[in-house]
Amino acid sequence: VEAALGTGPLKGRHVLVTSGPTHEPIDPVRYIANRSSGAQGTAIAAALRDLGARVSFVTGPADVPPPAGVEVIPVQTAQEMAEAVNSVLPADAAVFAAAVADWRVANAAGQKMKKDGSGSLPTLEFAENPDILASVSQLQAGRPKLVVGFAAETHDVERHATEKRARKGCDWIVANDVSPGTGIMGGAENAVTLITANGAETWPRLTKHETARRLALRIAEALD
Ligand code: CTP
Ligand code: CA
Repeated sequence: VEAALGTGPLKGRHVLVTSGPTHEPIDPVRYIANRSSGAQGTAIAAALRDLGARVSFVTGPADVPPPAGVEVIPVQTAQEMAEAVNSVLPADAAVFAAAVADWRVANAAGQKMKKDGSGSLPTLEFAENPDILASVSQLQAGRPKLVVGFAAETHDVERHATEKRARKGCDWIVANDVSPGTGIMGGAENAVTLITANGAETWPRLTKHETARRLALRIAEALD
């Protein structure tokens, strides 16, 4: 509503959001992916839009459709995501909700790989993908004023997320426990801990929508 009226606390702000998984090709018909649905990143983009921001939404192949009223830049691979992010900067704030593949297949085949009949097995070689969050966090010129990363962990969530924040150089980390028992990966709810320079804040278990709204309000406050 606020966005439609051209008002809201993020009016005049440009915010970048990455979302979804990436797909890393093995050959033209096969890829490596992960279980990210894109639901939380999509909800964050919508919540930022609702507060009046201009949102650039760089998304891998997600299960959920992108929100209306944002600029959508669809990508497949981590390398494409890195290029798309560079192309939409500068931004006032950037939220890196994507589950970026850590590795791509270095020896991806240009044609469909075929069984040769002898039972011999293919060997995949890997190369590390660029760390998009770290590179934007460490920009010398044109760094967004607020850089927010995510940390999906299955154990020692707060410790890993706090270390991640320091290592990457981002301002905040939104950490969550994505162990299978939590139902968070692929589910409608999230239970996050927000790590900032002032320490850790545990939020209640909320819908991904409500979590997004709360994060968007915090971002608006931080940019004020
Ligand atoms: N991220 C990124 N580019 C990558 C890897 C991760 O931008 N190549 C971002 C994610 O979008 C997320 C944050 O970095 O905001 C943390 O991602 P995560 O996978 O938890 O961290 P990693 O550094 O990859 O560590 P690990 O997977 O080993 O826990
Ligand atoms: Ca990772």
